[in-house]
Amino acid sequence: MSLLRSTSLVSRFSGKFPLTSARCTFSATGMETSAGADTDPTNNKSIAAEDVIPLSDGTIKEGKATILKETSKHVFYNPVQEFNRDLSILVLSVHAEDHFKQKQDKKLKEKKRNSASKENNESEATAEPIPDLEPGKSYEDGMIILEALAATGLRSIRYAKEVPGIKQIVANDLSPSAVESLKANIAYNKVEHLVSASHNDASMVMYLNRPPAPRFDVVDLDPYGCPSHFLDGAVQSVASGGLLMVTCTDMAVLAGNSPETCYSKYGAISLRNRCCYEMALRIALQCIESHANRYGRYITPLLSVSADFYIRTFVRIDSSPSVCKRSINKLSLVYQCVGCETLTLQPMGEFKSISEKNPNQMKTLLPHVPSVSETCPHCDMRYHLGGPIWNAPIHDKSFVSRLLDVVTAEDAAEKFGTCKRIEGMLSVVEEELEDIPLYYKLDRLSSLMGISTMPVLTFSSAILNAGYRLSQSHCKPSSFKTDAPQKFVWDVLRAWEKENPASEKRLKEGTVSAKLLSKAITHTVDFKMHPEANPDSRQRGKCRYQINPLKFWGPGIRSIANLQDGSIQEKQRRNQGKNAMKRKRTHTTGDAEDESKKLEESNV
Ligand SMILES: C[S@@+](CC[C@H](N)C(=O)[O-])C[C@H]1O[C@@H](n2cnc3c(N)ncnc32)[C@H](O)[C@@H]1O
Ligand SMILES: [Zn+2]
Repeated sequence: MSLLRSTSLVSRFSGKFPLTSARCTFSATGMETSAGADTDPTNNKSIAAEDVIPLSDGTIKEGKATILKETSKHVFYNPVQEFNRDLSILVLSVHAEDHFKQKQDKKLKEKKRNSASKENNESEATAEPIPDLEPGKSYEDGMIILEALAATGLRSIRYAKEVPGIKQIVANDLSPSAVESLKANIAYNKVEHLVSASHNDASMVMYLNRPPAPRFDVVDLDPYGCPSHFLDGAVQSVASGGLLMVTCTDMAVLAGNSPETCYSKYGAISLRNRCCYEMALRIALQCIESHANRYGRYITPLLSVSADFYIRTFVRIDSSPSVCKRSINKLSLVYQCVGCETLTLQPMGEFKSISEKNPNQMKTLLPHVPSVSETCPHCDMRYHLGGPIWNAPIHDKSFVSRLLDVVTAEDAAEKFGTCKRIEGMLSVVEEELEDIPLYYKLDRLSSLMGISTMPVLTFSSAILNAGYRLSQSHCKPSSFKTDAPQKFVWDVLRAWEKENPASEKRLKEGTVSAKLLSKAITHTVDFKMHPEANPDSRQRGKCRYQINPLKFWGPGIRSIANLQDGSIQEKQRRNQGKNAMKRKRTHTTGDAEDESKKLEESNV
């Protein structure tokens, strides 16, 4: 595919599509938006002119890109997402090696086929060497990237200047002002040879680049809120072995505040619980997989992270209808006890060997249900049912270790503004137990049992001393994943309570705490310090969990306050107060707001 593809896209289709959003109208001369408003079709909410954030004086610099203030002032820009962009640059840089390797393997296969078909086969076919890859250059065999929702083009320009091994980037946006800003920023940064602006609906660009048209090697979706209605186009327009990168910022929906909305958007019911951030990742992954399966394609998650106010997942897409048949094994429904929040996964499929002679001959079977009894064995309460969620690994550990090699290299701090944070988070990701979906939070367990929280290392030691495995999750401090049964976990807390008794108030008959504490301890619990209780990333003092970086940080508007004049900041400060009151009434996820405070207090 050549540059012609995107330029022809831009000239053929620019502004000539009837748009779904009520606030956009179609005209013969092109797309018009209602006066003073850009639309946000992602969540059918419009962004009014007074809400659009002007950038600060001068230019904005991030990485090697510079964004012009004048042309970008009515376009979305979120400085807190630097971490998201840095991480994407890191992932793309490592993926570039895989991309060239795949191209090389394909060429070698073709060569071998051709030389085998020639009668006089004189020379053995050999692989061409992979060229030294540098950022800023266009490579014939390089990656073709679509940034489907590009806003100012900051991300695409950074990819062009900082990621090696690119052929071309199509930076697309539906908003006319975004496209104006994109064009100006591309020219100012002198990356016209790599980045072309496209003015179109994101889905339309992706539908025009699915077979029989050539596909993109990488598609980046970074919308406002939920990406789900872009997924159908995205999973079809990524080449086999290519990369799909997706951001979701609608965390309230994914984290269980609105299970019915979550079902309508992602095809899964979210649950409010201690591990809602990993649950959000797993809901998003099952949603991408289900879209991919419709076209005989499947995903392999390379890295899936929960950061700040969003989640971001990087998945490889491949084609194989037979692998798709195994997808139900990678999905589980989730039973959650309404009292003690015990979670039990109910896989939707089982994968069993069906031949003694050939144990590799596997078949997918339907599981026997239910995996729980009518009431919870720990507190006698009933269950809620959520999911389905992705139950397979959410990262590829070998890929993560390659990312860590790059981010710990000598020149990493020059390349990535958020280098230390990436290194810290990836170190925890690398330690995560990949076969254990979801995590506990020690403070939440303690509060359910009505006792004081024991030191994390004491708790970890008790689990490890009993021969179980344990790791933390990158999603939250004081989180832990373990293969220890819930019964044993409760026994650890009961044993702690013996020396640190729960208050009388919590032991009132009928409460969850009273029910949990009424059960006898049936395991031996040993609190002696275990040599592996303190993970390597913690011992080496890595920046493992981010404390909210800026005042008024958050998605969209909230995040830009630090770039504005005092009056707007003052207005935002006042609004934040109101929103906080509203949140108190509507949010029940609980721990997100206080996380940085808790982090300081906890000994994690
Ligand atoms: C969150 S911003 C993108 C930020 C950008 N990726 C970055 O890193 O700075 C979302 C953008 O999507 C655009 N957008 C919304 N719906 C769209 C659609 N259907 N097609 C293309 N662009 C769309 C908006 O105009 C907005 O500029
Ligand atoms: Zn229970």
